[in-house]
Amino acid sequence: MSVRAMIDQQNVMVILVGVFTFMLALFYWKHVWERRRMPPGPLPLPILGNFLRVHFEGLVPSLKNLAEKFGPIYTVYFGVRPTVILTGYQTIKEALVEMGDVFMNRGTIPVFEHLYHNGGLALSNDETWTQLRQFSLMTLKDFGMGKKSLEEPLQEEAQHLVNHFKNLNGQPFDPSTTLICATSNATTNILMGTRYDYNDKKWMRILQDSRDAFVIISSTWGQLYDVFPGIMRYLPGPHKKIFSLFKTLEEVVAESVRSHQKTLDPACPRDYIDCFLLRMKQEEKNVKTPFNIPSLIATVFDMFLGGAESSSITVNFGFLILVKYPEIQDKIHEEIDQVIGREREPKADDRNHMPYTNALLHEIQRYSDIFPIGLIRSTTRDVTFRGYHLPKGTDVLPLLTTVLRDPTQFEKPEEFDINHFLDENGKFKKNNGFMPFSAGKRICVAESLVRLQLFIFFTVILQKFTLKSTVDPKDLDISPAESGLEKLPPAHKIKFIARN
Ligand code: HEM
Repeated sequence: MSVRAMIDQQNVMVILVGVFTFMLALFYWKHVWERRRMPPGPLPLPILGNFLRVHFEGLVPSLKNLAEKFGPIYTVYFGVRPTVILTGYQTIKEALVEMGDVFMNRGTIPVFEHLYHNGGLALSNDETWTQLRQFSLMTLKDFGMGKKSLEEPLQEEAQHLVNHFKNLNGQPFDPSTTLICATSNATTNILMGTRYDYNDKKWMRILQDSRDAFVIISSTWGQLYDVFPGIMRYLPGPHKKIFSLFKTLEEVVAESVRSHQKTLDPACPRDYIDCFLLRMKQEEKNVKTPFNIPSLIATVFDMFLGGAESSSITVNFGFLILVKYPEIQDKIHEEIDQVIGREREPKADDRNHMPYTNALLHEIQRYSDIFPIGLIRSTTRDVTFRGYHLPKGTDVLPLLTTVLRDPTQFEKPEEFDINHFLDENGKFKKNNGFMPFSAGKRICVAESLVRLQLFIFFTVILQKFTLKSTVDPKDLDISPAESGLEKLPPAHKIKFIARN
């Protein structure tokens, strides 16, 4: 090649690099300009945004640290997508409760959007969401399902747990896997009328696959998928497994819907699926109805995913806390003996007469803090919030952990202290900072079901057993371990000693 040709080639390269740099700068400037009235935040890199920073420090710790620097409302870029982070009781209450209509939509969650094909309750918005939500709330409340009360499947499942623990004869046992099966049974019983044996290998495989899928979703690969879905969809890597791991569960739900269709008796709806199918019949002539088979499958699927694991983690945390504090367990035993006795099955109404147990269950949920970052929302319209402009469709993440650990609401936020929910006369004390289910119009649809489930499970188990640690309780570490999007209890073994 001649010298002149080489110089020409170099010039072309310089021009290309110059144009590219100029375009990048222009894009970046436009980006910053458009967002200038949004809350402040760390400087984003082109394309990557703040992904690297947030990823390397860990999602929850880095978001908490940024709040210390930028205040209770700030913006973080996940790739090119700005997300407004809300922290602390006051800010989150103002947004989710006082301006509930504005912060009501579900934000962007690419993994789940791919999984549910945008259907189902948890991801939908507008009229579809309103209708699915009202229907689900009514059905999950008592007697949406004909004569059957919600207490029954919960009591039945708790009784299975009692039998299982009895058979252990006081041998030390890690209850985590059994609890996932037990709490998912309570959910599948209400949704699909089925329960599985704790030794059912096929079902345990499906539960384990869902667990593995969540681990990948929480990992770097899952986070990369959420930030760059368009690219990651075509790249190889563990994130590809997320969808295949959920496949069998999706098939179980679809098969259950088919078998419900064949056996439906309109006079006697057996569970959530039956109620949904009846509603579909009522709406047959409505072309815009959200009550159709894909939406039923997606909604049952997302309730299952939302529910099974979260309830089991909470119960497992509760057991650990009870063995750590035997004196609290003694008081719960005393209250159970006084109000329910040793034989009668605990009922929902008993809660009103058991302030100590009620306070314990609240403090277990507050302390365990299992969904530290909540679920992403987005704004339904342009809004000015605390002096900042948030355009319609802005993703908003309420950091629930900063409410559950807010020193303005809880005297000892980092410690487990039942007095957070008890007054000086031993009566139950409500605390507005109790937001493990989030708050406002989009609060967890199963809140009352879960609270009933926790009450029934704990009272049934403690009516029959004393829970003991295998080590000196003083040496037990109960601090929640952060695991991506969730917090988990440290692994532990417990002895279930029958009460006599
Ligand atoms: C300890 C147990 C549970 C906790 C702590 C919990 C917590 C939450 C939270 C924080 C949200 C996000 C709400 C928001 O958008 O701000 C949520 C939503 C949701 N949860 Fe739960 N949940 C639990 C159990 C369950 C169960 C058992 C089910 C189903 C039977 C369930 C179904 C759902 C659904 C469908 C949504 C989406 C609601 C909507 O978008 O309208 N959850 N939950």
